[in-house]
Amino acid sequence: MSAQQHTYLLGHDTRTVACLEVRESGHEAAFLLPHLKPGLRLLDCGCGPGTISVGLAKAVAPGEMVGLDTEMPQVQAAAARATELGIANAVFEVGDLTDLRYDDETFDVVFAHAVVMLLPEPAAGLAEMSRVTKPEGIVAIRDPISDASICAQENPLFHEGFKLFARAVAEAGGDVSRGRDPGRCCRRPVSRGSSSPSASSSRALPTIACASTAPGPVCGMAPRSPRRW
Ligand SMILES: C[S@@+](CC[C@H](N)C(=O)[O-])C[C@H]1O[C@@H](n2cnc3c(N)ncnc32)[C@H](O)[C@@H]1O
Repeated sequence: MSAQQHTYLLGHDTRTVACLEVRESGHEAAFLLPHLKPGLRLLDCGCGPGTISVGLAKAVAPGEMVGLDTEMPQVQAAAARATELGIANAVFEVGDLTDLRYDDETFDVVFAHAVVMLLPEPAAGLAEMSRVTKPEGIVAIRDPISDASICAQENPLFHEGFKLFARAVAEAGGDVSRGRDPGRCCRRPVSRGSSSPSASSSRALPTIACASTAPGPVCGMAPRSPRRW
């Protein structure tokens, strides 16, 4: 089932988007930046308001950075941000990462931050991300480990809040602790041109670099160093 058939759980009201707008590539994509160089073609899946995407675009310029999101207002906000910053190599499009319109092996790098955790069918998303990545490319994902969160001010109510959030995400098919082991989502064989694990032309996923965190102002951070599967 495509993400467009689901109601996006977190929504995009002003306060929710404001939480995303403090993000930047130097922090949220710090594990990926050392692997980027000018001329690479990069896809940012679930780009939201594009605050991370614009930094990624700078890192690969003059290579193309494509930001993709299911929500048109997010795509428009991200495009406006790039224009305001004078970033010419960024394009933003509406699309579903579980059903990408791009040809096989289109991108050198495919990135997703705080998105795989929300997918009801993460293996299908990872299969698509893998399909559009070149054989020597990188799929880079970063997601929370919600149950490892540390509160600056200890209060049991914060933990109750985390638990309720986790339940809401789980009821929508996600997992707020997917960042603990995103490799779990990608261990089944991925087939070129098909998400069927039984197809004979299966191949290994390209390198997946990943770091995890529990985002938010009251949360401690898990290590940022990449892991590989
Ligand atoms: C928590 S936000 C993260 C945004 C951005 N990556 C960041 O970290 O600032 C998740 C975003 O993914 C988008 N999204 C959710 N499911 C998606 C899908 N299947 N394909 C593309 N975008 C998706 C949502 O619309 C939302 O903007």
